Amino acid sequence: MGYTGLGTSIALAKRGHTVTCVDTNPEKVTLLSKGRSPLFEPGFSGEIAALSRRHRLIASIDTPAPVRDADIIFLSVGTPSQPDGSLDTTQLGAACLSVGEGLRGRRRQLVVVKSTVVPGTTESVVIPALESKSSLHAGDFGVCVNPEFLREGHALEDSLRPSHIVIGERDRASGNALLRIYAGFACPKVRTSVRIAEAVKYATNAFLATKVTFANELANICTRLGLDVDEVLRGMSLDPRINPRHLVPGVGFGGSCFPKDLRALVSLSRGVGYEPFLLTTTLSVNERQHMEAVRLLENELRPLSGKRVAILGLAFKGGTDDVRESKALAVASELLLRGAHVVGYDPKAAANFTKAFRGVEIAATVEDALRGSDACIIQAAWPEFSRLGPKQFALMQTPIVIDGRRTWTPRRVPKGIRYRRIG
Ligand SMILES: NC(=O)c1ccc[n+]([C@@H]2O[C@H](COP(=O)([O-])OP(=O)(O)OC[C@H]3O[C@@H](n4cnc5c(N)ncnc54)[C@H](O)[C@@H]3O)[C@@H](O)[C@H]2O)c1
Repeated sequence: MGYTGLGTSIALAKRGHTVTCVDTNPEKVTLLSKGRSPLFEPGFSGEIAALSRRHRLIASIDTPAPVRDADIIFLSVGTPSQPDGSLDTTQLGAACLSVGEGLRGRRRQLVVVKSTVVPGTTESVVIPALESKSSLHAGDFGVCVNPEFLREGHALEDSLRPSHIVIGERDRASGNALLRIYAGFACPKVRTSVRIAEAVKYATNAFLATKVTFANELANICTRLGLDVDEVLRGMSLDPRINPRHLVPGVGFGGSCFPKDLRALVSLSRGVGYEPFLLTTTLSVNERQHMEAVRLLENELRPLSGKRVAILGLAFKGGTDDVRESKALAVASELLLRGAHVVGYDPKAAANFTKAFRGVEIAATVEDALRGSDACIIQAAWPEFSRLGPKQFALMQTPIVIDGRRTWTPRRVPKGIRYRRIG
């Protein structure tokens, strides 16, 4: 029951289905059984409380029993990277074994893979594990791949009103059953094969990540040429072939999807004998992009040793408590390496950040973070940062603001600060 599993659960429960939320993490199950959200995502708390009261959402740490009673089983477990970048299917394999137990002796239940998996995984990992524990054959149970496209920070709206739905069906009956579940969702739906559906997710994330990196690279070049990259991007985006979304320079992409999905695609590609230069370059440009913020800071404050620097926003982006591969981790490491004292603030992600990283003082409020700081770096686009003004920045020792997320348009930059941004 992560961001994806909860989004799907809420969306289906709100449409009148009874959803059992299964997780092996006892803390998450306890919170869910009390009608509370185990993670921060706008709107989740209220929906989970309301749906739990109406017994539409039920929590369980046991897998086989709820599977036995279910018509459809969605697999939304994590699929992180292995150390070599390839897909780690440990959680998925374990979940499939437990689901397989529940399938035993039953017929025509549908298993839907929502986790992001590289093409071939459903055939090589999911189906064999389900078959081995259920003593059934695929076909006795249905199988679909239904990749998830939600954005953290917008998981509720994206789950309730998805932009599109991709159904990879192992057979027509499986696809029909999943399509019935999504009948009330008014958006384009595409039916395709299991492997194509798996690939669509990687193609999407690889393209979006490459767009972000393109904007970053362009910003880095424009900076050195003395050009305003926003004006270049604005002019460029007038071309009807170019959609401006994700063409926003900053400290680079993080999170639990783009980096690990790109690594998995690179690994898969190499495994079939093709070196994907574009994707590896997208990753390597992104890995050093946060250094642009550090460079801007050093230009203002060199040396950083002994300086107090505030990082505003510890999550990988605004609107979430998720710190997985957050650029705040990379920025904090660099600043500490240079001897700075780092103080961090985030409206929701401070607890997760502290679990993932030590050595950063955590401030309870944005004012506490700014007070006495020699500079601050805005790392995640939380709305509250765009409301900061001269009064708050006056708390700083020197009001140097390095903006990693385009918090303000040039005309709205607060008065009285020394403002620098990437690009
Ligand atoms: N987070 C996103 O924005 C997003 C968007 C699209 C796709 N995805 C994909 O969806 C999948 C899930 O991502 P997430 O961010 O929601 O993950 P997450 O890490 O937030 O949640 C995964 C959950 O699965 C649970 N789990 C692990 N093993 C289990 C098992 N055997 N049985 C039951 N529960 C088990 C974990 O305890 C955890 O609560 C991944 O493949 C990810 O790539 C995520």
